[in-house]
Amino acid sequence: MLTEDMVRRALSEVRDPELHYDIVSLNMVRDIRIEGDAVAVDVALTVQGCPLHQKIETDVKKAVGTLPGVNRVDVRLDVMNDAERRDAFARAFQKSQADRQAAPSSGSPSAQWSPLLAPDSSTILLGIASGKGGVGKSTVTANVAVALQRLGHRVGILDMDIYGYSQGRMLGAHEPARANAAQKIVPWQVHEIHVVSMGMFVPDNQAVVWRGPMLGKMMQQFFTDVAWPPLDYLLIDLPPGTGDVALDMAQRLPQALLIIVTTPQAVAREVAMRTADVARRAHQRILGIIENMSYVPMPEGHRLELFGSGGGESLSQALDVPLLGQIPLESSVREGGDRGIPVVISAPQSEAAQTFMQIAQKIDAAAHA
Ligand SMILES: Nc1ncnc2c1ncn2[C@@H]1O[C@H](COP(=O)(O)OP(=O)(O)O)[C@@H](O)[C@H]1O
Ligand SMILES: [Mg+2]
Repeated sequence: MLTEDMVRRALSEVRDPELHYDIVSLNMVRDIRIEGDAVAVDVALTVQGCPLHQKIETDVKKAVGTLPGVNRVDVRLDVMNDAERRDAFARAFQKSQADRQAAPSSGSPSAQWSPLLAPDSSTILLGIASGKGGVGKSTVTANVAVALQRLGHRVGILDMDIYGYSQGRMLGAHEPARANAAQKIVPWQVHEIHVVSMGMFVPDNQAVVWRGPMLGKMMQQFFTDVAWPPLDYLLIDLPPGTGDVALDMAQRLPQALLIIVTTPQAVAREVAMRTADVARRAHQRILGIIENMSYVPMPEGHRLELFGSGGGESLSQALDVPLLGQIPLESSVREGGDRGIPVVISAPQSEAAQTFMQIAQKIDAAAHA
């Protein structure tokens, strides 16, 4: 006698091709109906127009079709609502955490690249991502790095924005790359931060013309060919969006914690959501959101919300991660970046600098939680 339980057990062999876990534990099976020798299964996909829906459908038919007494399998596909999708991602995330704890020695594919990435390394990798450019990702990277250093940590920055590198300018480092006796690149040391950026390899103001394959190896080379000192934090300034580098990092450095920088605008938020989606699929943990250019501080504590409001807050709610802080738009921030002295150092009393210090404390607490 065919039972719903038997069908459910057969379905637990079917995996969501993107989330990598079975569709039963991800709560993707909405309904099972048995009528004689015909079985109907309702499956909810995580995204509309999921390009892999055919694979799921075929796999479901195969898994259920092989049960004794089944002659027909009807699969009905639907799409999850926001709450269901969040729940599915959360389940996949919890499972991936459990798997990682169960097999700690397997490490990540990049474990041999550098002692910083070894399974027993205590270095915390922080990927700084954003949906689009110009939201202040590099500014945030430089200032959070300095703030973490001021809290007593050993901090490095890897500028993975190959075409739009800017950490040299932000931190006031200009010298060309220098190799040590072992022929490894020595990071710039500025404001007590260790920095590696494409800017080291490019003579003043020349454009970078790396080709695809080389770009693919960049991340690896920035670890294998660099004499990184021991670090407590390595901040990785990512290019905007969900391009090759973000995907590469998601796959090769899944242990990296992500911070998403956004502005209060809704458009910026939508792109940031996509960034978050990639992270979730790769089972990367998103530490939190930083909203930049949130307001202009006015006399008497009044806040002028130049770019609207609520982008960071709603993104944080949608992803169920904390909003780590809201950084005001202040000319001292831009000037600091242009002069190579981050605002945390150049104007430590400013509202922006103090917000960066608070954000660093929250990151430090969350990363060790
Ligand atoms: N909070 C802020 N207040 C004032 N200017 C800012 C602020 N954040 C960023 N900027 C300025 O905005 C521009 C873009 O910032 P940047 O960090 O380079 O963005 P991204 O790396 O996301 O492209 C820079 O000129 C920077 O100095
Ligand atoms: Mg940048």
